[in-house]
Amino acid sequence: MNEAPAHSAFADYLAAHEQKSLLRFLTCGSVDDGKSTLIGRLLYDTKLLFEDQLATLASDSRKHGTAGEDLDFALLVDGLAAEREQGITIDVAYRFFATDRRKFIVADTPGHEQYTRNMATGASNSDLAVILVDARKGILTQTRRHSFIVSLLGLKHVVLAVNKIDLVDYSQQVFEEIVAAYRNFASDFGFETLVPIPLSARHGDNVIEKSTNTAWYEGPSLLQHLDTVEVESEARARPFRLPVQWVNRPDLNFRGFSGTIASGVVRVGDAVVVAGSGATSEIASIVTQDGLLAEAGAGEAVTVTLRDEIDASRGDVIAAADARPEVSDQFAAHLIWMHEEPLLPGRPYLMKIGSRTVGVSVTEIKHRVDVNTFQKLAAKTLALNDVAVVNIATHDPIAFDPYAKVPQTGAFIVIDRMTNQTVGAGMVDFGLRRATNVHWQALDVSKDSRAALKRQRPVVLWFTGLSGAGKSTIANLLEKRLNALGRHTYLLDGDNVRHGLNKDLGFTDADRVENIRRVAEVSRLFVDAGLIVLVSFISPFRAERQMARELMGDGEFVEIFVDTPLEVAEGRDVKGLYKRARAGQIKNFTGIDSPYEAPLGAEITIAGGALSPEAGAEEVLAFLLERGYLT
Ligand code: ADX
Repeated sequence: MNEAPAHSAFADYLAAHEQKSLLRFLTCGSVDDGKSTLIGRLLYDTKLLFEDQLATLASDSRKHGTAGEDLDFALLVDGLAAEREQGITIDVAYRFFATDRRKFIVADTPGHEQYTRNMATGASNSDLAVILVDARKGILTQTRRHSFIVSLLGLKHVVLAVNKIDLVDYSQQVFEEIVAAYRNFASDFGFETLVPIPLSARHGDNVIEKSTNTAWYEGPSLLQHLDTVEVESEARARPFRLPVQWVNRPDLNFRGFSGTIASGVVRVGDAVVVAGSGATSEIASIVTQDGLLAEAGAGEAVTVTLRDEIDASRGDVIAAADARPEVSDQFAAHLIWMHEEPLLPGRPYLMKIGSRTVGVSVTEIKHRVDVNTFQKLAAKTLALNDVAVVNIATHDPIAFDPYAKVPQTGAFIVIDRMTNQTVGAGMVDFGLRRATNVHWQALDVSKDSRAALKRQRPVVLWFTGLSGAGKSTIANLLEKRLNALGRHTYLLDGDNVRHGLNKDLGFTDADRVENIRRVAEVSRLFVDAGLIVLVSFISPFRAERQMARELMGDGEFVEIFVDTPLEVAEGRDVKGLYKRARAGQIKNFTGIDSPYEAPLGAEITIAGGALSPEAGAEEVLAFLLERGYLT
């Protein structure tokens, strides 16, 4: 999900500590739980800080005076945050420190609103999570949400850090009550280790050394635990997966497939398969920066060559032939939504899984999960921080594994197509049987032959604009003209389709998305039948009009924006709906309390306020004649 930072200090650091085992962990907590202070303390006390950073820290602390004469460790971490890696859209900073036994990488995720998104990113690469709670506050909804995400992302090792224990007078009772409540809550999470530690990040109790202030506590200090907990990476033990990042072809004699091995181990001679096509071959060589290898494993960047000339391109997965990933275009998944704009089923998004980016939509929200009670809740959309079980359909089949089997090829992120922002993260539960059981039936009569019989070029004429803009009037006139010219047409009109096929849909954003999805699919069938299809729907969102466009072939989609100003459409108010909307009797009315996103790249824009409907229809007809649609 994210890459190790390309930080030179990082490389130096790893080199210096090559012989030691590595533990990656993540800290989670609410804003005031003391996360930064704790990380700062670990960094400081393990003395891996650069001298000049320490000097700055000492003077800054005196300046800010938030910690009296003590150093303020939170300042240290926040200061380091300024040099965050470039190019990572998600706000996760990595910090490094070491003991004699181990080296550590901490994923530090800032605790603001977008926290879940950052946390999921940090967690995706970690072995262990330190979940902080404030001893005075105990387990909060945030704690539960973070723990839930930690478990969803497959982390098996958790430290419950009960921080600020000094502020409850080092009370054993407070500590034990919090621990009992947490154990009760987390009993179904499948954590292999859950170690509660009472600590004070501010004063250092039980951070590095055991504290005499908590004589009743018999467990390890945080660092003692981090230093010894067994979390051997299981990635090498899993089946071999190499998501292809690029195909390396410097000359005709060499074709290598490059990428970072996601899981498993590969050796020269191993039988492998290109997951998508099912083509098999054997590994001929494994090339790395350090030369040729006989064997390579999870986490290593390699280029492999194969014994046979088979095709694989960026986004494909090269896998062990005897343990293949699933290939499907539908699957069930757990999804965490991370954006203020709600998830709408049917809306097209992008999904990145391994090195593959593919168009997706959520076909069904099975249920939302209440992170406090684990109750299954009904949901039509997902809001920021919601966790849900969903069905997902991808535009093309993809190779994946159930997350529980191979987390590296079972985790994905969801990206907004319009803004390119990461808006969700998920884990594949399993491929849907229905996708593999339903095949395309080959038909002998094609779109071309159907169209040829009608002597026309099939096309969708997609009218969009406000209610009352004049879409249907223009479309109706145009259809009459086309009919008179002997063309085979069909007009899909919003008001009419909503009386039948889409009777079950209202005017929420989610329903409008579904409305347009269905109409786009119907248009596609009608185009396949060889018809000229006129579609007259408000279709207020760019994303769905884009989806409709992409369903059709090249040149088969003509977007016609009937650009009538709101005042004009409202002035007409043929159906009296604007009046009722203004009076508050109709909710979610487009242009009043529901948005309309004007097209950016419409083929035709009709000035609906200035032009007569007849002139509008002529304009479209002229376009069709000029572009050869009617010859
Ligand atoms: S769309 O937004 O989902 O594309 P569609 O074109 O199907 O809308 O339906 C719009 C028609 O429904 C309008 O022309 C109007 O007659 C009627 N209508 C009823 N309620 C609303 C509403 N809240 N917003 C917009 N149109 C509405």
